[in-house]
Formats: sequence, C-alpha cells, structure tokens
Amino acid sequence: MKMTLKLSLIAMLAVTVVACASTAAVQLSSLRDSSVPTTDTAPSTKAYVGKRPGQHALIVRAFETQPPLIPHTIENYEINATENACWECHNSNDFKGKPMPMVGKSHLLGPVVTDVTPKLNMQRWQCDNCHVPQVDAKPLVDNNFKS
Ligand code: HEC
Ligand code: HEC
Repeated sequence: MKMTLKLSLIAMLAVTVVACASTAAVQLSSLRDSSVPTTDTAPSTKAYVGKRPGQHALIVRAFETQPPLIPHTIENYEINATENACWECHNSNDFKGKPMPMVGKSHLLGPVVTDVTPKLNMQRWQCDNCHVPQVDAKPLVDNNFKS
C-alpha cells in the first residue's frame, strides 16, 4: 500500500515538472510589444509644440468643465512651495499690456477687485495637476473619443 502511494506521488511530481517546463517555453507577449523581462528604454524627450506664451491660439476644449490645455511651452516655469510662475502671469487678464486668459473664478478665494492681486485657492496651486502642455506624440493606444 505504502509503495503504491510513493509511486503515484513520484508520478504526480514528474507530471508537474513536465508541465512547468512546457509553460516556461511559451513566449509571453506583452501589450508594450517587447518580451516581458526586457527593460524598457525611456522614450525620447520631445519639445513642447508651443513657444513662449503670447503667440498661440487657445486650444478648443473637448468637453464642458475640461481644464483647458496649455498651448505654450512650460519649460522653465517652475512651481515650488513658495513660487509659482504660472500664477504670476495668470493672476490677471492683462500681461504687460496684452490681454491673456486669467485663471477661472473657481480657482480664487473671493471676488476679483481691480488693482488687487486676487487670492488663489491653494488647492489649485499645482496647476499642472490639471492643465497639461502639448507635444507632437503618437498616441500609445488607439482612441476614438470625439469631442
Ligand atoms: C509669461 C506669462 C505666462 C506664464 C509664465 C504662463 N502662461 Fe499660460 N498663458 C499665457 C498666455 C499669454 C496665454 C494665451 C495663449 C498664448 O498666447 O500663448 C496662456 C494660455 C494658457 C492656458 C490656456 C487657457 C485657455 O483658456 O485655453 C493655460 C491652461 C495656461 N496658459 C496654463 C499655464 C500654466 C499651467 C503655466 C505654468 C506651468 C503657465 N500657463 C505659465 C501666459 C503665461
Ligand atoms: C484641480 C484642477 C485645477 C488646478 C489645480 C488648476 N486648474 Fe485651471 N482650470 C481647471 C478647470 C476644470 C478649468 C475650467 C473650468 C473653470 O474655469 O473652472 C480651469 C480653467 C483655467 C483657465 C481658463 C479660465 C477661463 O475662464 O477661461 C486658466 C487660464 C487656468 N485654469 C489656469 C490655471 C493656473 C495658472 C493654475 C495654477 C495656479 C490652475 N489653473 C490650476 C482646473 C484646474
């Protein structure tokens, strides 16, 4: 009786080993189109489509309540704990005598008073959480969204 049990255990083990070996031979393919253990190389850095602010048409919004896309470059416009280059420009609708889009009223604490810098709601401090600049990149996956 004991002998039969041992034999059948050995047989089961053999079957498992064979099964594992054949699984290992199967080439897994990943969505990113390279073999699974390969290290991905970082994609090349692309330049922003836009140049310095002040020379671009606004990008048409794709849906109501969309945070508008940034049509200009954001290179060198830093946001840190105490400074925010975006806010310095976007806190009024006039930049050095030229009209420009001010932040939405939803971003402010209190009403806009002429000649007084409005108060930004700090929940909106990190502008690029919601507003994104543009580069000319091929979409990673097909997308048939229509605005
Ligand atoms: C030097 C001033 C300046 C700075 C700094 C700046 N912007 Fe702008 N921004 C503009 C101007 C001017 C426009 C109008 C489009 C144009 O002419 O480039 C604009 C357009 C935009 C728009 C489009 C608004 C709409 O209604 O479609 C968004 C969003 C925006 N900027 C976000 C940002 C963010 C985020 C930053 C910081 C990373 C930033 N901007 C820094 C001046 C500036
Ligand atoms: C939590 C997301 C969020 C953050 C953070 C944010 N925004 Fe917005 N922004 C929006 C949305 C959504 C809209 C469109 C609706 C509205 O006006 O509130 C908008 C609108 C705007 C507009 C166009 C306003 C108009 O009336 O056409 C500008 C310009 C803008 N934001 C700039 C900024 C800047 C600069 C910052 C950082 C100081 C910032 N936003 C932070 C979500 C955000």
